[in-house]
Amino acid sequence: MPSINATDSSAINDVLVIGFARDKKSKKFSLETGDLAFDAAAVIEALDDLGATAAADEVIKLPGSATKLVVLTGLGQTQKNYAHETLRRAAGAAARALSGHSSATFALPANSLSEFSAVAEGALLGAYAFDEFRGTSKSDRKPALKKINLHSKNAKKSEYSKALKRAEIIAKYTHIVRDLINTPPSHLTPDSFCQRFKKLSTGTKVKVEILKDDQLRKLGYGGIIGVGQGSANKPRLLHLSYTPKKSGKKPLRYALVGKGITFDTGGLALKPAQGMEAMKSDMSGAAAVSAAILAIAELNLPVAIDAWAPLAENMVSDTATRPSDIITIYGGKTVEVLNPDAEGRLVLADAMMKAAEVGAKAGGLDGLIDVATLTGAQVVALGTRTSAVMTNNPEFSERFLQIADGTGEQFWPMPLPEELRASLDSPVADIANIGDRMGGMLVAGLFLKEFVAPELPWLHLDIAGPAYNDGKPHGYTPVGGTGVALRTLVALAESAAGR
Ligand code: BES
Ligand code: MN
Ligand code: ZN
Repeated sequence: MPSINATDSSAINDVLVIGFARDKKSKKFSLETGDLAFDAAAVIEALDDLGATAAADEVIKLPGSATKLVVLTGLGQTQKNYAHETLRRAAGAAARALSGHSSATFALPANSLSEFSAVAEGALLGAYAFDEFRGTSKSDRKPALKKINLHSKNAKKSEYSKALKRAEIIAKYTHIVRDLINTPPSHLTPDSFCQRFKKLSTGTKVKVEILKDDQLRKLGYGGIIGVGQGSANKPRLLHLSYTPKKSGKKPLRYALVGKGITFDTGGLALKPAQGMEAMKSDMSGAAAVSAAILAIAELNLPVAIDAWAPLAENMVSDTATRPSDIITIYGGKTVEVLNPDAEGRLVLADAMMKAAEVGAKAGGLDGLIDVATLTGAQVVALGTRTSAVMTNNPEFSERFLQIADGTGEQFWPMPLPEELRASLDSPVADIANIGDRMGGMLVAGLFLKEFVAPELPWLHLDIAGPAYNDGKPHGYTPVGGTGVALRTLVALAESAAGR
C-alpha cells in the first residue's frame, strides 16, 4: 500500500500530476490543477503539438522545469465541476502510469471534500501491483507508486485528513481483495482463505468462526459439502462478525454472503480449458464481503455486520457430485444437481439460510446481500464493467443503486421474472440447480430467492464480469482482480450509520 498525505505548499519538488481537459466547441485545452497556480501556456502548446485529446485514460508525461516531471491525466471535456468518478479514474490512471516512481504530488480539480476524497481513492487504488509470484522476473518489474501527496489549500483541515484515512482503509482492503483474487488455487484453498482472514482479523473488532468440513457435514450444509466433495482441499464456512460499540439506539444489522469458490473447473460439467484460468477469481464475492466487514470495523461504523464466506473448490474426481445427485441445503430444501457447474448457488444457499437464522437470533436482519461471480449470462447481459442487482425489495435495491452511484461502482437493476421459476422445477427434488438457459442470470437469482424469506430485504449482486479484468487496465482498475463491490458495501454501511 502506498502512503498518502495532503500538502498546501505550492513549492513542489516532486513529480507533479495535473488534470487536463478539452473544450467541446473550441477544442482548446485547459489545465486543471485545482488550487495550485500553474503556468499553463507552454504545456498547452505542447499538448497541441502532441495531438493530445484529453480523453479518459490518456496520460502524458512532460519534462518539468520546477518539478521533476509533469504528468497530465485526461479528464475529458472541460467542466466546471468534474464527476467524482472522472476524478477517481484520472487519478488512478496517473498513479498506474507512475509505477517505478517513489513519490508524486497530485494537483487535480477538487472543489469539495468529496472530490478530494475521490482523488485520494483513485490515486491509492491505481497504485497497485501484484508481483508476489514473480521469481527471476521480479527485479525487472516496476513497483507501484509508493508515496502520494495531494495538493489542496485545505490540507490542514481535520475533515481532509479524515478523508485520507478513510481512503487508505478503502484502498488497503480493496488491495487485499485483489491480491486474493490474483492468488492462484495452488496457493489459495478454502482453508488458507480462512487462515488469511483469521490473521487479518487479529487485533480488530471482528470475530472469526471457521466451520470445517466434518462440522459442515454434521450440521447439514449439503450445498457446501456437495460442491467441495470432489476436492482434496476441503470446504469451509467462514463467519466474520462485527458488533459496534454500544450506543443509544439499536444499530442496523446486515448479513453479507460471498461466493467463495477458490477454483471452478465446472466439476463433472468440466469447463473448456480456454479461459478456465480466470476461474481462480470465483471467490471474488467471498473476498469482497470478508474484506468489507474488516473495513467497516476499522472505520468504527455503528452498524452490525455478519459476513459469511462459503468456501469450496469445484473439482473433477471420483468423489465429485454427479449430475442427478440430490443434496440437502441447510434448513432442509433438497436440490437436484443437474449441472455441477452451477455450484455457486448451492454454496450460497447454505450460507444464506444460516445467515438469516443467525440474524434472526440476533434480533433480526435489516438486509441480506449476497455477492457472487455467479453466471456467464451476467457478462453477456451487462459486459465486463457493470454488475447486476436483483432483489425481493425494490426500495432496498434503489437505495443500494443510489449509494453505488456515489462510489463509482457500476451496478444495474435486473428483474426476477416469476415465469422463469418453473424452469427450475425438478421431477424428483424440491428444486433443480439449473433452469432455462435464456435469462440464465435471472434464473440463478430466482434459485437464490427460494432461500430467502420474502419479508427479509435481500439483494443479489452478480459481479461475474466486473470482478476480474482480463482485458487492459483502465482508470484505477488493474488487470486481474478488481475488488468490485467492496466500496459500495462499505458505503452502504456508512449510509446506514448516518441515518
Ligand atoms: N463461476 C461461473 C460463472 C462465471 C462465468 C463467472 C464467467 C465469471 C465469468 C459459474 O459457476 C458457472 O459456471 N455458471 C454457469 C451456470 C450454468 C451451468 C447454469 C454458467 O454461467 O455457465
Ligand atoms: Mn461453475
Ligand atoms: Zn462458479
